[in-house]
Amino acid sequence: MEGMERRDFLVGAGLLAVAPTASSAAQGLDWGAVRREFRLDPALTNMGLFYLASNPREVRDAVAEFQRRLDANSHDLMPEEAQKVAEALGQYVGGAADDIAFVPNTTMGLSIVYGGLKLRADQELLLNDQDHAWHQQAARLAAGRVGAKVRVGTLYENPAKATEDEIATRLRNSITPRTRAVGITWVQSSTGLRMPVRACAAVVAEANRGRKEEDRCLLVVDGVHGLAAVDDDAARLGADVFVAGTHKWLFGPRGTGMVWVNPEVGDEITPMLPSLSDRSTTALLGPGGFHAFEQYFAVAAAVRFHQRLGRTRVAARIAELSGRFAAGLAEISGVVVHTPRALSAGLVCFDVPGSTGPEVVRRLADKKIQITTASYRIPYARAGTSILNTPEEVDRAVREISALAR
Ligand SMILES: Cc1ncc(COP(=O)(O)O)c(C=O)c1O
Repeated sequence: MEGMERRDFLVGAGLLAVAPTASSAAQGLDWGAVRREFRLDPALTNMGLFYLASNPREVRDAVAEFQRRLDANSHDLMPEEAQKVAEALGQYVGGAADDIAFVPNTTMGLSIVYGGLKLRADQELLLNDQDHAWHQQAARLAAGRVGAKVRVGTLYENPAKATEDEIATRLRNSITPRTRAVGITWVQSSTGLRMPVRACAAVVAEANRGRKEEDRCLLVVDGVHGLAAVDDDAARLGADVFVAGTHKWLFGPRGTGMVWVNPEVGDEITPMLPSLSDRSTTALLGPGGFHAFEQYFAVAAAVRFHQRLGRTRVAARIAELSGRFAAGLAEISGVVVHTPRALSAGLVCFDVPGSTGPEVVRRLADKKIQITTASYRIPYARAGTSILNTPEEVDRAVREISALAR
């Protein structure tokens, strides 16, 4: 049986099985075969798969193989594998291997970036109220060390009605000559809103006109819910720094992440910790000491898996399912969807009348449906549509939410 599934998955152009009737941009893949590569709980409709990745067989096998080699001789630290991971990630985000540092997760990456940023007491870091609490805290800890300030703005009035124009205008009005970095989130885990990063980058570029290098405002993107969920090159969005855990949508091993730094601003960030790698200026940002190398090295397998699936098809499938979910919710009387359709990716945040977000999570858990809520000021109910979900699961979740709303 196992062998059958494996073969199914690999037929076609040496890649994946072809689904004969699919009609969207997500066509050409047998999503059922893709799902069978994962060890999901078959009894659960899991719409929280973005939280901490389940790993496909290929990644699990890679971890096991690197572990075997380290067990055989831990002096063999396989530096060539680190290079392969940097190359794989660089290629995936549309950047260079030298501009990638390895970090254990998004939080550490952001902390290292803000902590290492050359920041003066008369400068500030500008974030917004929808950035993740750990992103905000990373900025506060860094600013606190040098006596600088963190200012937290608001980039839209109402997420459901937010537009690119509104966000760009508010950002433009918030940046001052003292703003040393702007932090934003590619796909917000509070609202599901997908930030128009390019529009934000244009605003930051405009603010930088005529500034000296030491005053230059950097755009820092927490990209964890965009990487492998949005079909775009993270290194070409116009940001100066892109940070993301590779242990969410990319299906990388747990405890892995990346930082990409625009080489033009590499000198503006100094390492916070000793590094294991002197591969490049940016690689020095990656914290040193020995690591769970079998996890790090297997990130390359996660990238390969996604490249075979194709980023366009992956993003299209995620959007198809999230669109289906949001449309289903919109039909339910009283349910409010907070994620704007035109600015969205794989997360959908919503409210059910008469229940708090955590109550919705609990009541759906009773029906063997896993969703989540985030610990923001308003903890909306939140579901994510992964390529591992099916249209039937999405419909089932909608039906159960409809029953809750009655
Ligand atoms: C937007 C956002 N940023 C950062 C994090 C923290 O991610 P990590 O566990 O990779 O540090 C999360 C957590 O899920 C998140 O939703």
